[in-house]
Amino acid sequence: MSDPTEFPVPEDWAKRAWVNAQQYDEAYKLSTADPEAFWAEQGKRLDWIKPYTKVKDVDYTGEVRIRWYYDGTLNVSANCIDRHLPKRANQTAIIWEGDDPKDDKKITYAELHEQVCRLANVMKAHGVKKGDRVTVYLPMIPEAAYALLACARIGAIHSVVFGGFSPDSVAGRIQDCESNFVITADEGLRGGKKVPLKANVDEALKQCPTVKACIVVKRTGGNVAMQSGRDFWYHEETAKVSKDCKPEEMNAEDPLFILYTSGSTGKPKGVLHTTGGYLVYAALTHQLVFDYHDGDIYWCTADVGWVTGHSYIVYGPLANGATTLMFEGVPNYPDASRFWQVCDKHQVNIFYTAPTAIRALMREGEAPVQKCSLKSLRLLGSVGEPINPEAWLWYHRVVGRHHCPIVDTWWQTETGGILISPLPGATRLKPGSATKPLFGIQPLIVDAEGKVLEGATEGNLCIADSWPGQMRTVYGDHKRFADTYFSTYKGRYFTGDGCRRDEDGYYWITGRVDDVINVSGHRMGTAEVESALVAHPKVAEAAVVGYPHDIKGQGIYAYVTLKAGEEPTEALRKELVQWVRKEIGPIASPDLVQWAPGLPKTRSGKIMRRILRKIAENEFGNLGDISTLADPNVVKDLIDNRVNRD
Ligand code: WTA
Repeated sequence: MSDPTEFPVPEDWAKRAWVNAQQYDEAYKLSTADPEAFWAEQGKRLDWIKPYTKVKDVDYTGEVRIRWYYDGTLNVSANCIDRHLPKRANQTAIIWEGDDPKDDKKITYAELHEQVCRLANVMKAHGVKKGDRVTVYLPMIPEAAYALLACARIGAIHSVVFGGFSPDSVAGRIQDCESNFVITADEGLRGGKKVPLKANVDEALKQCPTVKACIVVKRTGGNVAMQSGRDFWYHEETAKVSKDCKPEEMNAEDPLFILYTSGSTGKPKGVLHTTGGYLVYAALTHQLVFDYHDGDIYWCTADVGWVTGHSYIVYGPLANGATTLMFEGVPNYPDASRFWQVCDKHQVNIFYTAPTAIRALMREGEAPVQKCSLKSLRLLGSVGEPINPEAWLWYHRVVGRHHCPIVDTWWQTETGGILISPLPGATRLKPGSATKPLFGIQPLIVDAEGKVLEGATEGNLCIADSWPGQMRTVYGDHKRFADTYFSTYKGRYFTGDGCRRDEDGYYWITGRVDDVINVSGHRMGTAEVESALVAHPKVAEAAVVGYPHDIKGQGIYAYVTLKAGEEPTEALRKELVQWVRKEIGPIASPDLVQWAPGLPKTRSGKIMRRILRKIAENEFGNLGDISTLADPNVVKDLIDNRVNRD
């Protein structure tokens, strides 16, 4: 029997869910016909200090202006904590599961309040003020959530840097936003291995003289250097201050956070999200997409270093008074059953992970899943990259035991929250499709010239109008914001993704159409990897493209031209891979390196990436027109010497 290609909404889901099919259709119509009215109503899910009277002020043309709820004031941490206290003081806010299965901890809303207030007071005592940028470089420990919320409490703007980034990457991000306060830990712990976070910060801070103070959480107790007058222990500092801290009154459009993300060109961009609209959107989407009800245990396996961790481990769930699980470890430690053991141990109802993790676990076979009960699971989610139907079906059958709907959620760092996704009580599922737009979201598929294509079609994905969770600017470079997202197709937000729409109006994301690659759900700019490679003294030129990878989705394929006289040895290949790890971080390590005596260029000197992509994909039979190349012979050499990936 062949696998089904469609899965209807289970009856019990249609009954119990917040939104059924008919309600989806009606609310979607209203939300696009009268966005002001729809979002005015949705804003009420938050507690406002001064209620908004203005809802939306958006102009996608010219300089680009996006404002939501812009005369209202509120505080994000008060919305995520204080307002729940009358009812939920003793409810678990965060379940923390350590790297070691013996390590776990539950933090109630009352405890969360105290911890966040203490850290907020520590920051104040060190002179951190509203609008200051605070860099957070932490492992997946509860202090990461405290750090975000403590910044929000005093109006400081957090910039979280993923713990897998190198000292140079940390330094670049600190410098770009001129952050002068850092929160880190002695070491992280993942899969039994230590990550030298504080040592990395020490290295980074050599290039960041503006940083005044660094607060260090003791996680492993490892031996770290503490620079007197600059470095302070978290546990000592938080013990000294009051356990109450009044939340700062923030305008809805005051910045909440910066998160750096890779684009097609140049350095990573500081994506800026603001206070009111972001939280409305994160809360709404968390509630509806995951159909969150009181008492549910919800687990998103992302790292807080990425946007998924921001919106769907911390802000969305806590705004909704949820119990959110935070996991320090990795899916295959101590063994490939870990995810499922954690689900059983904490009775997880809603489980949200990435296709790359599913594919890696699929490779281990069914036994590690089958030995767990998984009875508590009700809903599964996927995010970060397209999920291939094979992985989708395995997830549904083996993990979901045929009865858990899967929400394949498409969104981006820039969008703040999920834009295209099934709603489990409303949407018939098709494996591999992110299905339909959420409320207020108007996807458009356009051709290369920007012509809007109707009906079943394929092209580039744009969004017609704004939603409250949309990014507002690139930190410190508003022109780059307008140019990157609104100039390719005038007056529309361009996502950088390719997309197909089928005859039922379902959306199928086909992957990036720009020079961004998606490695295990992590975004990587090919330009960043190239500039790391050419910084090596033996490298003359480099071009980096993605290629299909069974587990990671895409792997990194680097073509490297050495300087005259340099020998292309295996030792040098390894050295270059290490070099990139050191420059950017392990997630940027090239999987395959091909020595290229020359790169295919047009007569004007532009590298023809299209050709390099085809060769990396092993599709060199179909290179298209190569007559514009300055030297067509280069291509033959590249094909003959392509790297065997078996
Ligand atoms: C890709 C992660 C297909 C897409 C939340 C997007 C997806 C980029 C999906 C953003 C999905 C994310 N199906 N592709 N469900 N979710 N993507 O900024 O290419 O790290 O543009 O945000 O990931 O990655 P980012």
